[in-house]
Amino acid sequence: MKKIPLIKPYITEKITAKVCEVLNSGYLTEGQVTKEFEEKVKEYVGCQYALAVCNCTVGLEIGLRAMGIGFGDEVIVPDYTYPATASAVGIVGANIVIVDVDRETMLIDFDALEQAITPRTKAIIPVSIFGNPLDYDRLDKIKEKHNLYILEDAACSIGAKFHGTYVGNLADISVFSLHPRKFITTGEGGMVTTNNRQWADWMLSYKHFGMGVHESRLTTAFDRIGTNYKLSNIQAAIGLSQMDYIEELLARREEISEAYYQLLANTPMISFPKTTNKGKHSWQSCCIFVENRDQIMIKLKEKNIESQIGTYALHMHKAFSENPKCQIVGDMRRSRYAFDHCLTLPLYHEMTEEEQKYVVQELLEAITDYQ
Ligand SMILES: Cc1ncc(COP(=O)(O)O)c(C=O)c1O
Repeated sequence: MKKIPLIKPYITEKITAKVCEVLNSGYLTEGQVTKEFEEKVKEYVGCQYALAVCNCTVGLEIGLRAMGIGFGDEVIVPDYTYPATASAVGIVGANIVIVDVDRETMLIDFDALEQAITPRTKAIIPVSIFGNPLDYDRLDKIKEKHNLYILEDAACSIGAKFHGTYVGNLADISVFSLHPRKFITTGEGGMVTTNNRQWADWMLSYKHFGMGVHESRLTTAFDRIGTNYKLSNIQAAIGLSQMDYIEELLARREEISEAYYQLLANTPMISFPKTTNKGKHSWQSCCIFVENRDQIMIKLKEKNIESQIGTYALHMHKAFSENPKCQIVGDMRRSRYAFDHCLTLPLYHEMTEEEQKYVVQELLEAITDYQ
C-alpha cells in the first residue's frame, strides 16, 4: 500500500487555474481576490465582517487588541490546545490563565473556567478543537454573568455549527486557521469574523499598517501604529476556490469519520471523544483515545500510515509553566489524559474505502500486540 497521509489538501484543476489567473494578472498582494474570499466566508458563516489575515495566530492577536486587551488583563484559555491560543495572549502583554478541559469532549471545562474568573478577567479564548463546536448555551451564560468577551479559537472549525448557527457567528470574534492541516487552506492564512463594526474597522486598519478607515474602507491617512498581516491574492485564490467545495468536503469528512467510529466500535483499548449533539462537527480531525498511543503510532508508521497526536497540553511546556505571566489553575489531569491518549487518524477528501480499511486493519493489528 502506498503511503497514507494524515491529510491531503483538496486541490482541483479549477483551483490551480484560479491561482494561475492571479499570477498572470500581476496583482499578487492582498487585493480584489482577498476581498472576494472574505465576502464568501462572511456569507457562508452568516456574520457581518470577515477579515483575511496571514495566519490564525495573528488573527487571535488582533482580536485581543481590538477588544482592548493588554497589560494587567487576564485571559482564560484551555490547557489542551495548540500553543498559539495562549501565545497570542502573551504577545499582547496580558496574563495567561490556563484551565483544564472536559475529559470526554477535550473542550474547555466550564466549571474550571468559572472558578478561574477574577475581576481582572477580560476574555476567554475557548477552542472548538478538531472541529467540535463549543456549547454556547453554557458559554453565553458565563459571558453575561461575568461580563467577558469571547474570542473563539476556531482554527479547526469552519463549517461546524451550534444549534444551526455557524461557528464564526457565535462568539464576539472568531478566528479560523487556513493552514494545510485544515481542509479549507491557503497554505498559510487565517480569517477573523465578527459582528462588531468598530472592532472590524480597527482590525482592518491595524493589519494594513495603521491606515485610516472610512465607511469600512481604507484611506491613505495613517491613524495608528499598525502592522502588515495581509493575505495575498495568490493565497486567497486557493481559499476562494476551495469554498466552492465546502459542503462536499464536509459531507465526505463526516462520512469517513462515521465509518471509522463504526469500524472501531467495541474495540478493547479504544474509546471515542464525545462529539456535540447540539450542533454539527466539522471533522477537521478524526480522533480516538487509545492506550499505548505512541507505540501504536510507530507501528502505523512502519506500515506506511501517517498518524498524529491530538494536540498539546500547555502546562507541560516551559513557555507557560515557567512564565511569570502565566497561571496554571488545577492539576490538568484531563488535558494530560488527552495529550497521552488522543490519536488523530488519516482523513482526507479523496481517501478511498480500501485505504480506510487498511488503516483500520493495521490499527487493530497494532492494538492486539498490547492485549
Ligand atoms: C487550535 C489552534 N489554534 C491556533 C492554531 C495556529 O494556526 P495558524 O498556523 O494558522 O497560525 C492552530 C494550528 O494548528 C490550532 O490548531
